Amino acid sequence: MKVVVVDDNAINLTIVATLAGRVSGTEVATYACPVRALAWLAAADADLVIVDYMMPEMDGIAFIERFRAMPDRGSVPVVMVTASADRETRHRALEVGATDFLTKPVDPVELKARMANLLALRAAHRQLADRASWLADAVARATADLHEREREVIWRLSMAAEHRDRDTAYHVVRVAEYAGVVAEGLGLDADMVRQIRYAAPMHDVGKVGIPDAVLLKPGQLEPDEIDRMKAHTIIGGRILAESSSPLIRLAAEIALTHQERFDGRGYPYGRAGSDIPLCGRIVAVADVFDALTSERPYKRAWTMADAFAHIEAERGRQFDPACVDAFLAGGDAVLGIRARFCDTNLTGPILIPA
Ligand SMILES: [Fe+2]
Repeated sequence: MKVVVVDDNAINLTIVATLAGRVSGTEVATYACPVRALAWLAAADADLVIVDYMMPEMDGIAFIERFRAMPDRGSVPVVMVTASADRETRHRALEVGATDFLTKPVDPVELKARMANLLALRAAHRQLADRASWLADAVARATADLHEREREVIWRLSMAAEHRDRDTAYHVVRVAEYAGVVAEGLGLDADMVRQIRYAAPMHDVGKVGIPDAVLLKPGQLEPDEIDRMKAHTIIGGRILAESSSPLIRLAAEIALTHQERFDGRGYPYGRAGSDIPLCGRIVAVADVFDALTSERPYKRAWTMADAFAHIEAERGRQFDPACVDAFLAGGDAVLGIRARFCDTNLTGPILIPA
């Protein structure tokens, strides 16, 4: 363990350093100049500091005060060597953070015993700190692992729900990534952007509750069938509601509100403007854009330019103007996502964005 001895008197410095060096497992560094000792201590780690009280440049108390002011140096034991039995000096030293005292002339037996005690204390403290930091790392790794798995299950469930009515494996991926573009463009913080990207794939999960006769009907839907289809929002909200996971709760909010319109003519509740949660307003733009630009059995895919124009035309009607502006401003990113997650390029396992 590293012991630093600071004393302007060369003879005392040598005596204390020699005695300290006899304690097993120690490596001693000596400094005649307290300023140089502090400079070294600022950059390096010490396990015990033994400092003289009477020094011309800086006394032991000022030295301890400066040492304790350095970050992470609060637990290093500091012993002050003093010739004076003056109670006031000792009290001041204790106040600024001295751990113990040695009286001049230094008694070798006493020095050895105190050093052994303080170094044992220091070793125990280090062990505890190492263990705490190891535990913190282990918890962080386990939490990240858990989040990753939660996310993967979300992706796979979302895709399973999506596969019932269309063979567009990347629809949910693109909607999520487009939603991320809008969220980022709105200036939401990075964590919120990530949460929206991770939760958005579940927006249509409620379709699992729609009967095949309605969901897969090739022709026009009857009014009662349209109502059943619209219920996918409520079903999705119910499937995901009241989770202990904030991500799943956000997904519940998106599932319930992504078909609302800014002008209040959407469903299921006809909420309008800021009465619709922001996550629902964001996903609405992303979802419609992807539906327009995707081919369906009953329609061809719109061109990107036509789809962008439609989104713009619905600014303030179907969509929140701020979300439209953010989406259009992120046009290049949108094109990149479209090219990367393209259903016609499906080979091998489905890519899950980072
Ligand atoms: Fe939907």
